[in-house]
Amino acid sequence: MHEFILGSDGMRSMMKVVHQVARYDVNVLIIGESGTGKEALAKIIHLNSPRAKNAFVPVNCGILSGLMFEDKLFGHEKGSFTGAIRREKGCFEMADKGTLFLDEVSEIPLENQVDFLRVLEDFRFVRIGGSEVIKVDTRIISATNKDLRKLVDQGAFRQDLFFRLHIVPIYIPPLRERKNAIPRMVEHFLNQLSITYRKPPPRVTPEVIDMFCRYEWPGNVRELKNLLERVFILNDEDAITVEHLPSDFLWHFEEPSALDLAEVRKRAETEAILHVMDRVQGDRKRVAQILNISPRTLRYKLNQYGIKVDRK
Ligand SMILES: Nc1ncnc2c1ncn2[C@@H]1O[C@H](COP(=O)(O)OP(=O)(O)OP(=O)(O)O)[C@@H](O)[C@H]1O
Ligand SMILES: [Mg+2]
Repeated sequence: MHEFILGSDGMRSMMKVVHQVARYDVNVLIIGESGTGKEALAKIIHLNSPRAKNAFVPVNCGILSGLMFEDKLFGHEKGSFTGAIRREKGCFEMADKGTLFLDEVSEIPLENQVDFLRVLEDFRFVRIGGSEVIKVDTRIISATNKDLRKLVDQGAFRQDLFFRLHIVPIYIPPLRERKNAIPRMVEHFLNQLSITYRKPPPRVTPEVIDMFCRYEWPGNVRELKNLLERVFILNDEDAITVEHLPSDFLWHFEEPSALDLAEVRKRAETEAILHVMDRVQGDRKRVAQILNISPRTLRYKLNQYGIKVDRK
């Protein structure tokens, strides 16, 4: 069910490194664009490590700063700040004997990086408001879709922390650079969906596979997986053909000569108007306000684009 598809020599060599590092508590930094499988790979490392039976704790480093960040990672004692009604463990403690996965590690706020590095050196810390020194045994895997070295050069990321995290770097190439894997991935995801939704997996025509292999997949594997889910749910036929692919996907294959700017504008504006209309239950005055146009312009566009909506 959770097989990780390789499909190229480059990926097979990468997987050898993964299995090698899994056995040791070495810090691994996984680098790759969004949706390339960084978290999936981190889990594989954890599950192939001696820590497999213990927790795998993912934490997104991008959403918190200052005290909130410290709280998330190191926890707090009861009464240490307003709202701290009981002792709360942080991610480091939750990942004791297991693996802590630092996602979007480039986003650790600069102000928190020094303390953070110190904890990575000896795995000792105190909870916020506490005095007891907590010692944990945690393995660190981090991931980034940014060029950390560049951030170091720009002064946005501490060099010493970079070196600490970067002992073994593992790079996952974008899907467009390993298109050989696409047919296997399609088959794999359809089988997965078939189990999840209890419906037989459809065949996929060679034309569709060919289009998938020509497309650039800016959202990488996640984009492919989501597209297949959408098509799988919306069709009950036994084959997926080009006609079943959504128009926003097919749009990428239209001849450039057919890309009339007026048509692009019409589509985008129609979509935006309908979206807002729907959100405000067809209240035209609010639609115009939200879209920052006059009611007159809105009326004009509704007529011009032939958008039919119930009057309110
Ligand atoms: N090679 C692969 N084989 C099978 N499934 C994969 C593969 N790569 C990624 N996936 C699946 O694609 C989805 C996206 O992967 P994941 O969440 O690991 O990406 P990510 O690199 O962490 O993305 P982001 O940077 O956006 O967080 C997941 O459901 C994952 O299981
Ligand atoms: Mg991720």
